[in-house]
Amino acid sequence: MLFVKTIFLASALFAGSIRGTPVASTTYPIPTIITPYNKTSPEYDAGELQNSDFEVHDVLDFGALKDYNNEYALDRDGGGSCSLSNRTFWFFCDTIVADATGAFRGFYSNSVALALDYNHAGWLRDISASSTYGTFSAIPFTEEEESMAKDIFNRYAIWTYTDCVALSDTTAVHFWEVVQFSSGEDIVSRGTTMAVYNLDPDGNELTVTREDQFYYSVEEYAYGSFANVVVDGIAYLYALDVKYSYRQDVHLACAPVSQLTDKSSWKYFDAASGEWSSTQPSPSERNASAAVISNSMPFSSGNIYYSEYHNQYLLVFFNNWIDNMFRVLSAPTPVGPWTTDNKVIFEAPAGKSYNYGAQSTPVYYQTDGQTGGKNLMLAYTYQDFLSKYPKAMKLKFA
Ligand SMILES: *[C@@H]1O[C@H](CO)[C@@H](O)[C@H](O)[C@H]1NC(C)=O
Ligand SMILES: *[C@@H]1O[C@H](CO)[C@@H](O)[C@H](O)[C@H]1NC(C)=O
Ligand SMILES: *[C@@H]1O[C@H](CO)[C@@H](O)[C@H](O)[C@H]1NC(C)=O
Repeated sequence: MLFVKTIFLASALFAGSIRGTPVASTTYPIPTIITPYNKTSPEYDAGELQNSDFEVHDVLDFGALKDYNNEYALDRDGGGSCSLSNRTFWFFCDTIVADATGAFRGFYSNSVALALDYNHAGWLRDISASSTYGTFSAIPFTEEEESMAKDIFNRYAIWTYTDCVALSDTTAVHFWEVVQFSSGEDIVSRGTTMAVYNLDPDGNELTVTREDQFYYSVEEYAYGSFANVVVDGIAYLYALDVKYSYRQDVHLACAPVSQLTDKSSWKYFDAASGEWSSTQPSPSERNASAAVISNSMPFSSGNIYYSEYHNQYLLVFFNNWIDNMFRVLSAPTPVGPWTTDNKVIFEAPAGKSYNYGAQSTPVYYQTDGQTGGKNLMLAYTYQDFLSKYPKAMKLKFA
């Protein structure tokens, strides 16, 4: 297949890869779509917090977030976005493809698209080609993962529920959970992988590389897999304590973006002492006092970004109980102090089953002199009995 050049550079020996030798890498062409936006200064200006009541003016519903020109129907979920060189990428999880007659054409554990037009928040252009449907993954499998792809009961899947961390105009990292189906019953988390994105903006190609099969084991906090924000060249990476707090505690690490792929440069925050340490915690029980957020309800998915309109950092999320409500917590710095009472900013239309995969970004509305954070693009996975797909909305704060 000419469309996707996939190379497996190292055999997936579990002993671990030699540094700098990826376990999987792939390069594919992307459409020449440009969606320019202005970065707002991602910095709390030490002035007063603004508009802290988070009153909402209105919410515009754009319907499905999808490629309206795709001749195939894609059923997919989850995912997250990020912007590189005036392009906004959307990555999604499990993607099932049907043709115009409804006949099954293929299935893969993730897919990728580009935002087509910020004025139409539902419009995407899929990055794929019809001839590759059913075989094209946005994130490459290792050889061992690939060898199980056809074994529906034991296959691996690579899923994300947050945005990527842009390190420069052309590079980003994105944390994805690697799960494995076990005899068709339980889905078991095997760890978290780090996908590195390299965009060639002139050649219009994206290269996705995984240095290691797992960047975090299931025993570690998976920093960056819940949320991230970059401020003044420092990436703040948020992890949920899934195992001991059941997704209620958020732990924080940080690293200079220029050294993000070198774990020895990372520091870990202890909210109890207010100190950063170079020693990565090895959790063996719940440690709420070390967490920057210890919520009264479990988080499912969310994003953190600076809002110029509010002069504060926002965490916009779904919780794990109701799943329809976009909620907000806020803080004057990435470290905190975070508010403890969340405010519901929007109850998303329910499908016939539960909704999940809340995502949001201010990037769509950082053009033409707009104030960053006054408007948010919202997305979530809307689920009917027979299908699920992302929906897009625009929320305007009052
Ligand atoms: C984005 O596009 C603008 C023009 O709209 C251009 O001035 C700027 O250099 C571009 N930025 C990048 C990183 O390509
Ligand atoms: C809680 O986290 C802090 C900071 O990482 C660490 O020093 C402490 O030992 C942890 N406590 C427990 C009970 O794990
Ligand atoms: C970015 O801001 C500048 C100055 O306000 C403006 O001239 C330009 O059109 C903006 N670019 C975009 C893509 O909105």
